[in-house]
Amino acid sequence: MCGIVGMVSSNQFSTLDVIAALKRLEYRGYDSVGIATSDGWVSKDVGEIDKFMDILEDRSANLAISHTRWATHGRVTKENAHPHASNDGSIIVVHNGIIENFEQMRAALRSKGYSFISQTDTEIIANYLEDKLRSGMGMQKAIRSFMKDAEGTFAILIIIKGEDTLYAAKRDSPLVLGILGDGFVLASDIYAFSDKTSKSIFFDDNEYAVITPRSYTFYVDSKEIEKQITEVQWTGISEKDEKYEHYMIKEIHEQPVAARRLIESMDTTQRSKMDLLARLCRQCKRVLFVAAGTSYHASLAGVYMFNSIGIEAHTLIASEFQNFMLVNEDALVIAISQSGETMDVVKAIKYAKDKGSKIVSIVNVPYSTVQRLSEVSVEILAGQEICVASTKTYTNQVLILICLANLLGFRTDIKSIPEMIGSTIESSEEKVMELSRSMSDTRDIYVIGRGISYPLSREVALKLKEISYIHAEGMMGGELKHGTIALIEEGTIVFSFIPNTDYEMLSNTQEVAARGAHVIMISDNPEFEPTFLLPPSVPGSFSVTATIIGQLFAYYIAKEKGLPIDKPRNLAKSVTVK
Ligand code: G6P
Repeated sequence: MCGIVGMVSSNQFSTLDVIAALKRLEYRGYDSVGIATSDGWVSKDVGEIDKFMDILEDRSANLAISHTRWATHGRVTKENAHPHASNDGSIIVVHNGIIENFEQMRAALRSKGYSFISQTDTEIIANYLEDKLRSGMGMQKAIRSFMKDAEGTFAILIIIKGEDTLYAAKRDSPLVLGILGDGFVLASDIYAFSDKTSKSIFFDDNEYAVITPRSYTFYVDSKEIEKQITEVQWTGISEKDEKYEHYMIKEIHEQPVAARRLIESMDTTQRSKMDLLARLCRQCKRVLFVAAGTSYHASLAGVYMFNSIGIEAHTLIASEFQNFMLVNEDALVIAISQSGETMDVVKAIKYAKDKGSKIVSIVNVPYSTVQRLSEVSVEILAGQEICVASTKTYTNQVLILICLANLLGFRTDIKSIPEMIGSTIESSEEKVMELSRSMSDTRDIYVIGRGISYPLSREVALKLKEISYIHAEGMMGGELKHGTIALIEEGTIVFSFIPNTDYEMLSNTQEVAARGAHVIMISDNPEFEPTFLLPPSVPGSFSVTATIIGQLFAYYIAKEKGLPIDKPRNLAKSVTVK
């Protein structure tokens, strides 16, 4: 997490320009923000970037570094906000990642007389470099020494006070250089400079670079290396639409269009990739999905469909992949990720690659790390998703899996789904809004599903937690009676997702209703007299249409409660720490 932006130019730019670029990375964290220029000036504060911009001094500079934080080490305070300066103020650093052995490194620096004003792991980087420079080392050698001594992950930007050279280093955390007409911009991802340049150079692990206003040089150890310039094709940049109060509701409404665009691409521009993916699925002994959060729920839907057509498939949350999954050369690993940067997913696929598995992926952000580590990568094509909680990318992830399953023997009319999505939103939004009014004091919601509706029950529960701050559990309808039913009291809200003729799910629903639960039933079967009647499903479509009801509830309950919908407490959209 955390976003970093650095700029170096032969012409002067304003600190406001740097922070405007940083604002595009705010989805990576919004606990605090800060900026430093090469003359040693540092300004930082807790809170979001908009608030910071109100107090930010409009200063001219040729070199600046900036940071938006998602706290890992140390609470959300001004002292812990980046940039961090070394004891004598000569070295200033911003950092994304975690230095795992920072306690030992800090102790070593303390014994040499260095003091620390923050609780961050980053402050040790600045002091470590100051110490090396004091001992007579040049900056490049000091960086190499740091990269040898530091354990963990980092994308770092470093300035030496009074100099016009920017230093950058990367291991695991993402970092990219954008080439401008009069200088360079460095950032956690390409969106930070999408309005400035399409010429990019992606850092690979264990590389560092020395950037002046007129040149850049990349190194591995002390060896200079050639880097390839990528001409980025920009797709789906999202702008604010005054019609919608929040990005979340805008993105919910974008789903029919995004779904149509994706489905069309899978027949045209992405056809050969889909065919290759299908071939790899057939050739391997088993498919292993790996993902986190919402993307994991999409992968669960994939497991359901793949197993139903005789393709052995499993999925596991990325952070536990190495602990619980048998990974070897017989497996095809399919990573699913909106950002393509989730550190747990990156780590899992690097591990699987080492074990001999083939790696493919389904990713929304082009040129992301997961995409670049994959043999083939299908693009989710949902367009840029700004709200921290995923909506349209989940839908498109599931659609890719339905399409892939179709190529492998699953039979469904995928082309009918975008229209179903549109009619689901249209027919249910008012009613969701109305029911949500009485749910702002709700403390617990149980969400139950079975078969194809189990993954989506997990996804709906996640949305209720992250957006509406309601404790919600998404679970298998059949499992409820093995414990959790003890929590059902008069009036407890239960969302029940019942696809077509799933009478077992209906029984599970009746079991909770008999104990006083207030059931909100979502089904495409009019016979069940559901609270929300969805359009008649085709195989797989329920995963998408039913989820949309949950997305709308999460949104409208949160709105009722006046919560920060697009940037919920403690979260970040791209989780680039383990
Ligand atoms: C974070 C976000 C979630 C997201 C998850 C996985 O936790 O808050 O919304 O589902 O990361 O992200 P990915 O980019 O890998 O899909």
